[in-house]
Amino acid sequence: MTPDAEHRLPLVGVIGCGAMGAAVAELFTGRGLPVYLAGRRRSAAQELAAGLPRAAAVSVEVAAEKADVLILATSVMVSCTQIAPRVGSRLVGKVLVDVSNPEPEDLEDTGHRSAAEVIAEVFAGSSVVKALNCVSARQVRAVARGGRPPTVPIAGDDREAKRSTARLLRRSGFDVADAGPLSSSQWIEGLSHLLRRLGQQEGLGDAVGFHLLRLAPALPPFGAINTSEKRRT
Ligand SMILES: NC(=O)c1ccc[n+]([C@@H]2O[C@H](COP(=O)([O-])OP(=O)(O)OC[C@H]3O[C@@H](n4cnc5c(N)ncnc54)[C@H](OP(=O)(O)O)[C@@H]3O)[C@@H](O)[C@H]2O)c1
Repeated sequence: MTPDAEHRLPLVGVIGCGAMGAAVAELFTGRGLPVYLAGRRRSAAQELAAGLPRAAAVSVEVAAEKADVLILATSVMVSCTQIAPRVGSRLVGKVLVDVSNPEPEDLEDTGHRSAAEVIAEVFAGSSVVKALNCVSARQVRAVARGGRPPTVPIAGDDREAKRSTARLLRRSGFDVADAGPLSSSQWIEGLSHLLRRLGQQEGLGDAVGFHLLRLAPALPPFGAINTSEKRRT
């Protein structure tokens, strides 16, 4: 990547103008990024864009064509059966961010693969990165308004696509942790289920989040732990 490309702000497209699409659009535009918004109904995208700086309502085709990074803020079913056949070919070589949390029926007969892997197969030639699914739309809005940012685990097979997604998310205020290849998405999607369950059990709803504690400098080195363990025995 050239230094110019490294520093140029990516053009972001968001397909889906529901809860998550709207929250992500608010976040990115609030951080100075231009965003192309596309929904099933043009009016939904227009309404949303009207309330945001630097946002433009466009067709799904134009969003796919213009964006360097496309956020797929639709259900897995819609992404696979409606968006991919419509614009999959325009997204070849581009970064596609899958924020989905699949319903059980989305993954029936897919051989225990994650939604991200299913999406990568359908959008052949795109660099799919799993991200943001562990953060609720309400939390994304909170971060957009200066709230405490959780860690966003990301996964993908294309190192450069993951780098540009991480850069985008860090610029937007999130802590980002690299979970490795796209196949790790199964764990990231599982983490989202766990957070939802913890929120229910703790009576917190979606007001729970994941933050990776990077303890390395605070812990004694392994050798030291082993020595003291030996002394105790
Ligand atoms: N909501 C959250 O807190 C959250 C958090 C993390 C991840 N996610 C994930 O984000 C994705 C979207 O969830 P959501 O909660 O935002 O759902 P949502 O509010 O129902 O929004 C989905 C949007 O997709 C649009 N859509 C449907 N068919 C379309 C098509 N053919 N072309 C373009 N747009 C189409 C819908 O438009 P219409 O309204 O016109 O049907 C709707 O605006 C899901 O995969 C979900 O798992 C959501």
